[in-house]
Amino acid sequence: RISSTKELLINAEKGGYAVGAFNVYNLEGVEAVVAAAEEEQSPAILQIHPSALKQGGIPLVACCIAAAEQASVPITVHFDHGSSKQELVQVLELGFDSVMVDGSHLPFKENISYTQYISFLAHSKDMLVEAELGRLSGTEDDLTVEDYEARLTDVNQAQEFIDKTGIDALAVCIGNVHGKYPASGPNLRLDLLKDLHALSLKKGVFLVLHGASGLPEELIKGCIEHGVRKFNVNTEVRKAYMESLSSPKKDLVHVMASAIEAMKAVVAEKMHLFGSAGKA
Ligand code: G3H
Ligand code: 13P
Ligand code: ZN
Ligand code: NA
Repeated sequence: RISSTKELLINAEKGGYAVGAFNVYNLEGVEAVVAAAEEEQSPAILQIHPSALKQGGIPLVACCIAAAEQASVPITVHFDHGSSKQELVQVLELGFDSVMVDGSHLPFKENISYTQYISFLAHSKDMLVEAELGRLSGTEDDLTVEDYEARLTDVNQAQEFIDKTGIDALAVCIGNVHGKYPASGPNLRLDLLKDLHALSLKKGVFLVLHGASGLPEELIKGCIEHGVRKFNVNTEVRKAYMESLSSPKKDLVHVMASAIEAMKAVVAEKMHLFGSAGKA
């Protein structure tokens, strides 16, 4: 049903839980998230990455918006990782409820001016704005201790960033990575998250954690305790989709149905871990 990303995050803040934002690429993905949300009575965010938008275009966005409107639980539609100004300016016209401005590849000052610019435009359309400070690594990046430290979100910079950009939600880099975590396991700096949480409460912004695929239950709980209200999940859902294709199927409808079931199971499990199940 109609809701807003802001409303979902305000409720999560009040209730001390987090909302899952699940990357979707096609109708099966959308159906899987909506079905899981309805079964688990959970709010959810459907999010579209630029690569998914490139593939699915406006029909994919329209599909998400229609599915969110039709759902019996609150679901919103978010644009993930908007790293190009030109693209974001166009995306703001497509009916998303919220956007992520990703200037994390830019030097600090440029990230501020980029985020400030989009934030102003998005707010004039009543959209919630998420932005990232710090830089997320990929598992393939073999980082030295110095490199690892250099990519973390700095608390003082975060304060300046929030003040100057007027964002609503901050995506933090505390050692979280997109894709798989290394065999040694995730190395999350919950002590840093604690400081960022204090700042977020002072400033009235929500904390977001990207790269939630691969985090064990105790770290997810730790992140929620320290203020994370939105977790981004992609890899585990995609993996479930791909794996569902490897068993023999009778026909196309069977392929689609088993992909939905496989993704739905992962999404439902995350809703329980994030504490959003039963909160719709
Ligand atoms: O109104 C917004 C809250 O202060 C958000 O802060 O999600 O980081 O705890 P939090
Ligand atoms: P994972 O692929 O690690 O779940 O990360 C998802 C993400 O952050 C999308 O923005
Ligand atoms: Zn991400
Ligand atoms: Na991850």
